[in-house]
Amino acid sequence: MKLNNKVIAVTGAASGIGRCLVSNLLAEGAKVAASDVDLQGLEGLRPLAPESDLMLSELDVSDRQAMTSWAAAVAEHFGQVDGIINNAGVALSCHAGEQPREDFCWLFDINFWGVVNGTEAFLPYLQSRPQASLVNISSLFGLMSVPSQSAYNAAKFAVRGYSESLRQDLRHSNVVVTTVHPGGIQTNIARNGRHHHDLDGQPTTVAATAELFDNIARTSADAAARAIVKAMKRGQRRLLIGSDARLLDVIQRLCPAYYDRILLPLKALGDRLTRRKAESQPSTRG
Ligand SMILES: NC(=O)c1ccc[n+]([C@@H]2O[C@H](COP(=O)([O-])OP(=O)(O)OC[C@H]3O[C@@H](n4cnc5c(N)ncnc54)[C@H](O)[C@@H]3O)[C@@H](O)[C@H]2O)c1
Repeated sequence: MKLNNKVIAVTGAASGIGRCLVSNLLAEGAKVAASDVDLQGLEGLRPLAPESDLMLSELDVSDRQAMTSWAAAVAEHFGQVDGIINNAGVALSCHAGEQPREDFCWLFDINFWGVVNGTEAFLPYLQSRPQASLVNISSLFGLMSVPSQSAYNAAKFAVRGYSESLRQDLRHSNVVVTTVHPGGIQTNIARNGRHHHDLDGQPTTVAATAELFDNIARTSADAAARAIVKAMKRGQRRLLIGSDARLLDVIQRLCPAYYDRILLPLKALGDRLTRRKAESQPSTRG
């Protein structure tokens, strides 16, 4: 689908991938409805385009009624809606046996129900257009699991299952459904998350998790957004972003029951190399 003069709605647009989606969509000539719980962050997008091309709205994706009202407001503002990117998401790290149910529900309400809310609210508008695009952001962690990520893994696997079934329900329609599986993307997701345990089950903090994440995330948010925009233009059904996502997807397919036995030693090796690098730094400086 050509994006010029199309109206695309983006959730979680104040930061990271969502923020870069807004600028890339505007560069394609699209009109954008951007929403987030972080209104201050969203306001940072205002210089990018006039109100006729960029609508900013405070929205909590877990609020079904608010999502329905936002979809109606977007259609009213622009006169049409041609695409929705259900992007908003949060992170949680916790040993599955000790996970506070409150945190589990917090994550699911945003990462899974937020996607369902966005899909259901926008679908009637998308179905009234000659061509439309519905993009749901899952994750590499919607293809394979790692320790301490049971809630995030469950929600992202659920987004994948939901979106792949939805795609088949819409097979005779004008709406193309794209499921996106990014690997590590350099954003604030770890910094904005709740983190109790690391991959080894040890107690951790938000700062430590964010530092680890910053060391392993390889792809920029802008590159991720560009890949998503390209997939929308091509009508692609499934998109993996980053060489980490592509490699680990192959490993989990080859070894579906035992991929952790390959990945965890690789992680231990990475940890050793990082520690060695950190230990060698004072002598280099001195
Ligand atoms: N960064 C990665 O490595 C990575 C990898 C795979 C998938 N993803 C997914 O990509 C998406 C975007 O994440 P990001 O990495 O850009 O993170 P980010 O933290 O930079 O941005 C996420 C945005 O979502 C917003 N948000 C949080 N809760 C919300 C709510 N209830 N309602 C509306 N907005 C809310 C935040 O305010 C923030 O602006 C998420 O779905 C995430 O799970 C990220």
